[in-house]
Amino acid sequence: MIFYICLINEYLMPGRASILVIGASGQIGTELILELRKQFGSARIIASDIKVPGYEVLEGGPFEILDVLDKVRLDEIVRNFNIKEVYMLAALLSATAEQNQAYAWKLNVEGLFNVLHLAREKRISKIFWPSSIAVFGPDTPKDKTPQKCIMNPATIYGISKLTGERWCEYYFMKYRVDSRSIRYPGLVGYKSAPGGGTTDYAVQIFYEAIRKKKYICYLKKDTVLPMMYMPDAIRGTIELMNAKFEKIKIRSSYNFSGMSFSPDTLAAEIKKHLPAFECLYSPDHRQQYADSWPRSINDTSARKEWGWKAEYNIKTMTSDMLENLMN
Ligand code: SER
Repeated sequence: MIFYICLINEYLMPGRASILVIGASGQIGTELILELRKQFGSARIIASDIKVPGYEVLEGGPFEILDVLDKVRLDEIVRNFNIKEVYMLAALLSATAEQNQAYAWKLNVEGLFNVLHLAREKRISKIFWPSSIAVFGPDTPKDKTPQKCIMNPATIYGISKLTGERWCEYYFMKYRVDSRSIRYPGLVGYKSAPGGGTTDYAVQIFYEAIRKKKYICYLKKDTVLPMMYMPDAIRGTIELMNAKFEKIKIRSSYNFSGMSFSPDTLAAEIKKHLPAFECLYSPDHRQQYADSWPRSINDTSARKEWGWKAEYNIKTMTSDMLENLMN
């Protein structure tokens, strides 16, 4: 009984600042919500999305239906829950954005803009917004891609993310809006499914290897891309948000590196655990998006300025993925 009263009080505590995650049903959102709840307490973390999340996110704390393009509803949630920090994760990824260009632009750019605007009006004090390796394009140096270089993205997704980066830096310079951002590589995890990205093969391959012992990859076998294991990505994201204001020198978005591999290297690593596994290749339209992106990323600025360091490599990631998916 006492436990329930405490729980209700926690949810309704008026002055308590909360954190809003927009896009909580997505690949990053699902895992981020679980970690934020662990670190800050479930009552303070408000999950939101246009679609209902999986069981764990839905049952573990507050969830609100929210379309980030609906400014009135966004405003209402920020007021009702006394939101002070926002993780704005809602986006269309590279492959789906090409199929629905107008909506991708609207969601990826206007969605961010709505949140930046709240910070400009001092309604919220801190924003996290993800950028991507897709901000780089065919003219960009492919190996150990520097923080600052020619970008010229060749996908709608990349163009929308580069635009978002410029908005974030502009809002910082002009209005001191404290927004923080990471250029995520392809993300691999077992707690949530990716959707609509070019790097999604690196998650699908595990499921198919276990279920069917066979996977047909839509990228060429030697397509090397920057990747990261989800526990590193989530830790890095929260570390960036917890870093002191003065340490964040880059207000567009930080290069962020974990590992780099091609589909055949990952398949060979999986084969060490599942010898019967076979990977075949049938490249489709996603190959051209992958071909326009870097092979590896130089993340010296993130390391020096706020102490970033990835922990997982392809070996440790693969055994951890298989262990969790098979048990
Ligand atoms: N994972 C993203 C995609 O494949 C790139 O950041 O679209």
